Amino acid sequence: MARDLTEQGPAHVAIIMDGNGRWAQMRGRPRLFGHHAGARRVREIVEACPDHGVKYLTIFAFSTENWKRTQAEVAGLMKLFRRYIEREAQDLLRNGVRVRFIGDRVRLDDRLVQLMDDLELMTADNDRVHLTVAINYGGRDEVARATRRLAHDVAQGKLDPREVNDETLPRYLDTCMLPDPDLVIRTSGEARISNFLLWQSAYSEYEFVDTLWPDFTRDEFARVLGGFATRDRRFGAVRAG
Ligand code: FPP
Repeated sequence: MARDLTEQGPAHVAIIMDGNGRWAQMRGRPRLFGHHAGARRVREIVEACPDHGVKYLTIFAFSTENWKRTQAEVAGLMKLFRRYIEREAQDLLRNGVRVRFIGDRVRLDDRLVQLMDDLELMTADNDRVHLTVAINYGGRDEVARATRRLAHDVAQGKLDPREVNDETLPRYLDTCMLPDPDLVIRTSGEARISNFLLWQSAYSEYEFVDTLWPDFTRDEFARVLGGFATRDRRFGAVRAG
């Protein structure tokens, strides 16, 4: 009998969208041209999620390390994020997508933060797909910020230090409202995690594909999800039977 992907496929997929710059350079175009093409793929992949039973999609849009890029590229990416939110908000709302942002907002410009807050609020009642966008996100930074908040609660007497464990700590992470990712996909042939969801991906499956992000189609997404269904996930235990 054919496998039912809605039952056996991953509920939460996280993607490191890599390769925009190379995609543009191969065409003799500026790197931002690749980021714009990448943004179009985001839309396509979000739309494909319900067909495969993917309820949660988390994408890495800008890392805490990406500030080291040229000022022009950083400014161009920030503008792209603002435009993306402005242009896509209504469609996301109509399509049942709940949008959340993770990462440290302190360094982001006020206009972008306002758009992020508004979109989160506007889509808060949606439940068809949960899209989480990581902007100014780094796994180590997230754990450090979470630990700071946790230490504050301990200092205030709200949390007993004896209760700090692997169930209480994640409540302080940016992702406290999400299940852990079942599958992490990275495009562009690089086999690294690059500081993405370090705590959350402890038992995730990984798939590294050679395709550059702007070329990652919904068909390839479907193929990768099909491969996931054949994996034997044991979470450190031995297989039953
Ligand atoms: C990595 O490719 C990609 C990024 C740092 C930016 C990701 C952003 C997008 C896909 C744009 C749209 C996203 C949203 C949410 C609107 P790279 O520049 O590192 O590529 P390279 O490794 O080939 O240089």
